[in-house]
Amino acid sequence: MPNMASSTKALFSPLALAGLNLENRVVVSPMCQYSADDGSATDWHMTHLGMLANAGAALVVVEATHVEKIGRITHGCLGLYSDANETALKRVIDHCRKIGGAKFGVQLAHAGRKASSQRPWEGGQSLKAGGDPWETIGPSAIPFGPDWATPRAMNEDDMARVREAFVAAALRAARIGFDAIELHLAHGYPLHSFLSPISNKRTDAYGGSFENRLRFPLTVVQAVRAVLAPGIPLGARITGSDWLDEGITPDDAVALAKALKSAGLSFACVSSGGISSDARNPSTAGYNVPMAERVRREAGLAARAVGLIASPKQADAIVADGKADMVALARAFLDEPHWAWHAARALGADVKRPPQYQRAAPSLWPGAAMAGV
Ligand SMILES: Cc1cc2nc3c(=O)[nH]c(=O)nc-3n(C[C@H](O)[C@H](O)[C@H](O)COP(=O)(O)O)c2cc1C
Repeated sequence: MPNMASSTKALFSPLALAGLNLENRVVVSPMCQYSADDGSATDWHMTHLGMLANAGAALVVVEATHVEKIGRITHGCLGLYSDANETALKRVIDHCRKIGGAKFGVQLAHAGRKASSQRPWEGGQSLKAGGDPWETIGPSAIPFGPDWATPRAMNEDDMARVREAFVAAALRAARIGFDAIELHLAHGYPLHSFLSPISNKRTDAYGGSFENRLRFPLTVVQAVRAVLAPGIPLGARITGSDWLDEGITPDDAVALAKALKSAGLSFACVSSGGISSDARNPSTAGYNVPMAERVRREAGLAARAVGLIASPKQADAIVADGKADMVALARAFLDEPHWAWHAARALGADVKRPPQYQRAAPSLWPGAAMAGV
């Protein structure tokens, strides 16, 4: 993958991933809304995702969508473990397609030992008696932190069930018509916590060496890839660093990305952190970008950078300088759902707008220059 010539429009150049053509390199990062009803999308999702369908980002990735009921982070998390979940999410995605121009991906997830917790605005801690908690699972019986429930160490039956749940949810996602699917291998969830020596202390074939720790996540990735049509890009959100001594390092992320590429994945979104309650992410701009760059260069896998990317120039430089193929933004889109419109204006590019809003395009609205960037 050669670097792109430095251009102020790199961010707004097209990209192909498997059979999917994206109009630009801007991605709305998955963001849990904690607003589902037994895993089913609600009118909140209709409004939230409907808004993002016209955000100017080529791809919107739907929040962590859990593959089994006990894999939800909170009682309000989205799922794809029932027919009702599938029908409700299809209603939302059909609506988004009708009213907006973005492509839609979904992040398939399982919360493992971080499941059974409160919504962030309720405290974000492990649910206590009275909060309808449930048994959590993980690679080893080690809690996420002090005050967190101790998970049950997964046995081979659990692994087979979770793997089949990922496959079933991916088939549901394909039936809904998602343009891309990404598996959550980051933020301390099971496919990451198997890989990390911080949370995986197993002494069987699934613990110890890197190869052993990779075994279960890799079987999930391979099983999902095997049931999807080749044109659907399957990717993963991975961990560039656990930010803890003894944890996953950027070298491990490169090794993981190579394995994912061999398994037929089309991209990796390089995130980091979240493996235990004492891990702290850096708070510097674009802190995951150097790790995304290594994944892109050394594993030869299309890379998406995420984390404290906020300004159009910063985002454009990441793509123009060949550090990542795409950038994902989360909080910037909550703050300004038209972030990509303003970014395009600032960089001298353009994005598609719905006809109803076309009169705000810079070419039709002298006020655009006065509004500044
Ligand atoms: C409200 C909210 C919900 C999030 N939910 C998810 C999620 O469902 N899956 C995920 O991988 N990351 C999730 N994240 C992390 C973001 O996708 C992103 O990686 C992180 O916020 C850093 O990007 P930013 O600096 O652009 O916000 C969430 C972040 C926010 C702010």
